[in-house]
Amino acid sequence: MAMTQDDMKRAVAQAAITYVPNDCIVGVGTGSTANFFIDELAKIKGKIRGAVASSEASAKRLQGHGIEVLSLNDADDLPVYVDGADEITKHMHMVKGGGGALTREKIVAAASKKFICVCDESKLVDVLGKFPLPIEVIPMARSYIAREVVKLGGQPKLREGFITDNGNIILDVHNLQIMNPVELETLLNHLPGVVTNGLFARRGADVLLLGTPNGVKTLTA
Ligand code: A5P
Repeated sequence: MAMTQDDMKRAVAQAAITYVPNDCIVGVGTGSTANFFIDELAKIKGKIRGAVASSEASAKRLQGHGIEVLSLNDADDLPVYVDGADEITKHMHMVKGGGGALTREKIVAAASKKFICVCDESKLVDVLGKFPLPIEVIPMARSYIAREVVKLGGQPKLREGFITDNGNIILDVHNLQIMNPVELETLLNHLPGVVTNGLFARRGADVLLLGTPNGVKTLTA
C-alpha cells in the first residue's frame, strides 16, 4: 500500500523518540507532525520528567496523555526540541508559524540544546518563501509593519480572525524569494512592533528527520 503523508509524519515522529534522553524534559513543538510526536511521547511517558510546550494546543494534547507540562521558567535543561516546519532547506533554515505558534516555538527552540525537525519530504525546498512568511506583530504596529514589508518586496496579508497565544496578530507575507534567510530574519527582528518572524535561520535545525516513501532520511547541520 502506498505511504500517505500521515504515514511519513508518523514515521519521523517515531524516529525523533530515539533522540529523547531518559529522565529529561522535552521541548515540544506545534502542528500536525508535532502531534504525532506527542502521541509517540505518550508511549514512553514513564521515561521522561515532562515537557515544555510551544502552544496551548500542544500543552492540551500533552496533558490529555497524562504528560506533565512545565513552564519554561521551571525547566533548567532542555536537551531536545522536536517540531515540524512549513519549509526547510538543506542548510537547515526554516519557515515556521503556519499554525501561528512561532513566538513560543522560537523561544523554546532557543532554550533547547538540539532542534530536531520532523517533516515529510514536501517541506524540503531549495529557496524559502513560497510558503507565506508569518510575522507576529503587536496590533498597533500592523500598518507600519505592512508598509515596511512592502518595501522589502513582500505582499503582507492579515491572518483574518486569528489572535496568537500572546494576544497579537499575524501578517503572512507572500511573494518573497528568501535568498539570505539569516539577513532577513535579523532585519525583521529589528522592526519595532515585530514580536517574532517565522524565519528560523539564525538558529536553524540541528537534525532533520525527513519522511519519504522509502523511509526516514536523516540530515544533519
Ligand atoms: C506552527 O506554528 C508551525 O510552525 C508548525 O511547526 C508548522 O506549521 C508545521 O506544521 P505541520 O506539521 O502541521 O505541517
